[in-house]
Amino acid sequence: MSTIRTQAPTSELTRATREKHREFMLPATIQYYEEPIVLTEGKGLRIRDADGNEYLDFFGGILTVSVGHANEKVNAAVVAQISRLSHVSTLYPTLPVVELAEKLARLSPGRLQQSFLASSGTEADETAVMLAQLHTGASEIVALRHGYSGRSMLAQSLTAVSTWRPLPTQIPGIKHAVAPYCYRCPLKLTYPSCGVACAKDIEELIRTTTSGRIAGFLAETIQGVGGFITPPPEYFEIAVGIVRKYGGVFICDEVQTGFGRTGGKFWGIEHYGVEPDIMTMAKGIANGLPLGACIATPEIAASLKALTISTFGGNPVACAAANATIDIIEKEDLPGNAERMGRILRAGFDELRGRFPRTIGDVRGMGLMQALELVEDETSGNRAPNKVMTNRVFEETKKRGLLVGKSGLEGNVFRVAPALNVSRSDVEEALAIIRESFTAAGAR
Ligand SMILES: Cc1ncc(COP(=O)(O)O)c(C=O)c1O
Repeated sequence: MSTIRTQAPTSELTRATREKHREFMLPATIQYYEEPIVLTEGKGLRIRDADGNEYLDFFGGILTVSVGHANEKVNAAVVAQISRLSHVSTLYPTLPVVELAEKLARLSPGRLQQSFLASSGTEADETAVMLAQLHTGASEIVALRHGYSGRSMLAQSLTAVSTWRPLPTQIPGIKHAVAPYCYRCPLKLTYPSCGVACAKDIEELIRTTTSGRIAGFLAETIQGVGGFITPPPEYFEIAVGIVRKYGGVFICDEVQTGFGRTGGKFWGIEHYGVEPDIMTMAKGIANGLPLGACIATPEIAASLKALTISTFGGNPVACAAANATIDIIEKEDLPGNAERMGRILRAGFDELRGRFPRTIGDVRGMGLMQALELVEDETSGNRAPNKVMTNRVFEETKKRGLLVGKSGLEGNVFRVAPALNVSRSDVEEALAIIRESFTAAGAR
């Protein structure tokens, strides 16, 4: 039985919006789907396009809508704040800013205490690297292959996915260690007999390609754009031990993994038993309002002595949205829900791999960030990335009213990340659509 649901005729509004986008936006601003959808309104996990088609949103605007579209409590906080005061810049303390900074200090692991607020993950990572350099007096940074840090020159230089890098490295002193990518081990080893050699290799990287003294190691807990590459449990303890031995600090990028996304914990790194020296966050912090934060220990925070501002950083409206979002995440125990719903999602993905053993090479992720890596033929050992099939499944899910994501260096990773308050019936509905979409796409 077909469950194709998005068959409304294309309206003039949709046509005109696509046309204006083509005409007036940078052509490189990528859009999902052969025929991009013009989204106009959302409520909870349901979102509608300009033609009246309804979708179940399992991507949340790239892991950003944490508590559902048009969440009433978040919206009420935004309306109340915008009616009072919408902008002052970081030059003046405001109530929403200090409330948020105090919350972040309470929720963050270890001794992380003092925050700088900005408008994006890129700026949060920029701030983190600057603090690491000032604190250590060193400048070299170890980042990871398959990592993504954003759009500034520094963030682009930290990024190690060529498809997202229009220019060669512009900032010197960044060295990329091999990724903890077990499915495609860069060292051709197998976990656990590998002894987590990828983490140990950081020592050789530092000793051979740097001055021997580094400022820090910047890593995502789970590599998002890289395709939800999930390091083995021992990875960070080994990697960070080496980094500290050579004078560096650990910058943990929680832009995708923060705020309960990984299930059971507030931060992804808490699954690994390592305390960061600096942590960055954005995306899910404010349910879609633009906000990024960098939090550090007091000693590291004190190392920035020059004057610093951000015009839009710590915008009171975005901070009010963040305070309301975090209150909901805590009061409703959404990390717990992410763990429970993530388990159902993962079981569904494992079952899917059993149904399509040739196409689905790997299932990975934590909590409500789960991915499938699609290959030519896993059963015969042909792990060539299957981008064509990924695109086909992607279009089939859209036809059936489900929004998901895709990523990876080769564009062959299918990924899902619904709002943290997703229900069991939503997860079951999404799994049924994904199953049907794999069949319709000809997966084997
Ligand atoms: C892990 C990670 N860090 C940093 C960024 C940059 O964030 P933004 O797009 O808000 O600048 C992203 C964006 O996708 C990200 O995934």
